[in-house]
Amino acid sequence: MFDPVEKLKDFIRHPSVSADPAFKAGMNGAVAFTSDLLTSIGFKVEIINTDLHPIILASRGEDPAWPHVIVYGHYDVQPADPLNLWKSPAFEPEIRGNRIYGRGAADNKGPLMVHIASVARLLERRPDLPLRITFMIEGEEEMGSPSFPKFLEAYSDRLKTADLVYLSDTLLPREDQVVITCGLRGLVLCDVVVTGSKGDLHSGLHGGVLRNPIQALAELCASLHTPDGRVAIPGFYDDVMPVEPWEREEIRKLGSDPEEYRNFLGIPAFHTPPGYTPFEAVRVLPTLEFNGIGGGYQGEGTKTVIPSKAFVKISCRLVANQSPGKIRDLLYRTIRERMPSDVTFEIIDQHQGLPYVVVPPDRSNTPKEQSPVLADAFRAADTAIAEVFGKPPLYLREGGSVPIIADIKRVTGLDSVMMGLFLPEDNLHAPNESFNLDVMAKGIRASERILESIADRR
Ligand code: BES
Ligand code: MN
Repeated sequence: MFDPVEKLKDFIRHPSVSADPAFKAGMNGAVAFTSDLLTSIGFKVEIINTDLHPIILASRGEDPAWPHVIVYGHYDVQPADPLNLWKSPAFEPEIRGNRIYGRGAADNKGPLMVHIASVARLLERRPDLPLRITFMIEGEEEMGSPSFPKFLEAYSDRLKTADLVYLSDTLLPREDQVVITCGLRGLVLCDVVVTGSKGDLHSGLHGGVLRNPIQALAELCASLHTPDGRVAIPGFYDDVMPVEPWEREEIRKLGSDPEEYRNFLGIPAFHTPPGYTPFEAVRVLPTLEFNGIGGGYQGEGTKTVIPSKAFVKISCRLVANQSPGKIRDLLYRTIRERMPSDVTFEIIDQHQGLPYVVVPPDRSNTPKEQSPVLADAFRAADTAIAEVFGKPPLYLREGGSVPIIADIKRVTGLDSVMMGLFLPEDNLHAPNESFNLDVMAKGIRASERILESIADRR
C-alpha cells in the first residue's frame, strides 16, 4: 500500500492549472501521475483526449452482476496567484501542523487521493471484492468543464452501466461534522461591456455633454438588487425549489453561530434576503453577484478623463429547478431594457451550469423512486461516517457548483453521493490552500467502509 500523504505531495508538485496554457507541462504531469497511480493499484486506465484537457477513465471489476460505482474527481487546479501571499510556494507541498499546504491540496487533489487510497486499501485486503469501480477524472473542472458534456454523450452507454457516482468535492462545516451534499448551485456567467465615446475624452473639453459609460454601468448594476438584498429581475425567483421542513431542520442542526460566521467573513452586518438565515440563504436561494468591474483610470494620482469603455463581470448562482437558459434570457432582457440608449453595449456570454439536487432516502415527505443501490450507498455512507467521525452526517445542499454533476444526471440518469471533505478554513481558490490531514485519514477509513458495504449489499 502506498503512503497517501506522500502521494498527495507528488500530485501537488504537478502544477495543473487548466485555465492557463503556460501550465501544459503541469497538466501532462498530473495526467501521467494519476494514470500511473491507478495502474499501480490494479486499474485498467484509458486516457481520453478532448478538445482541451484529457479525461482519465480507469476501471476494475468485470462482472456485470456486481454493483458499479463511478468515482469522480478533477486533477486540475485554480491559478495560484497572487503568489506573494503564499507562505510556502504553491506547488511545493509543505506540512505545517496537521495540514498539507499547496494549490489543489483541498480542491480537489486531497479528496481525490482519499478515494484512491481507500480503494487501494480495500483491494489489498479484498482483491476479489465484488464491486465494479470506475474512476472518472477530468482536467477542466475549474474552467467550467467545456469538454465534459461531449464526453458524456460519447461514453453514456458505458457510464450508464453504473449505479451511482461517488465523489468528494464539497464542504464539511467542521472537522467532526461531515456533510453529505445533496444539492449544488448552478451558474450563469456573462460580461457586459459599455461604450460611450469612440475614444477617451478630456473631461474639461467634453464633460457635461455625454453619459459616462462608468455611470451607465453603475446605474445598471445598482438596479439589479432591491435594498433588502433580493435580485431585482422580474421572474428571477419563479422556479426556485421550495425548502422542505426536513431541510430547514437539517440546516438548524448544523448549529452554526451567526456571530462567528460574521466574524469569519469580517463584515459589519449580514445582507440576507428577508425570511432566511445566512446558512439557509447560501444553500437554497439564487444570487446575482458582480465578480469584477472596471473602466477608466486605475493608476496613481488623478486623471481628468471620460473613459470610452467600462465593463462588469456578472455571475448568477442558481438553485434546483431553475433553468440557466431561462435565467440568462431574463438577465439579458433586463440589461437591454435598463441600459440607457445614449451608450452602446455588448453582453458577452460566458459559461453556464445546471443546478443539482438529490433527495437522500428516508428524508423527504414526498420521497421519489430511487435506485436500490443508490439508497443503500446513502445508508452505507451514513453508517460509515457515524462510525469513523463519531457523528452521523448532515444532509445539506451546498452553495458551490460542480455543474457536471447535473450533466451526468441529465445524460446518464445517475445520481451522486457527495461526501464533503474540505473545511471552510482550507482556503480554496485562495493563497495558502491546505487540506487537513486528520480529515484525510478519517475520510480514507470512511470511504473504505462505504465502498465495502456497497460491494457486500444483498
Ligand atoms: N469544489 C468546488 C465546488 C465547491 C466549492 C463546492 C465550495 C462546495 C463548496 C469546485 O471545484 C468549484 O470551485 N467550482 C466552481 C465552478 C466552476 C464552474 C468554476 C464554483 O463553484 O465557483
Ligand atoms: Mn474549485
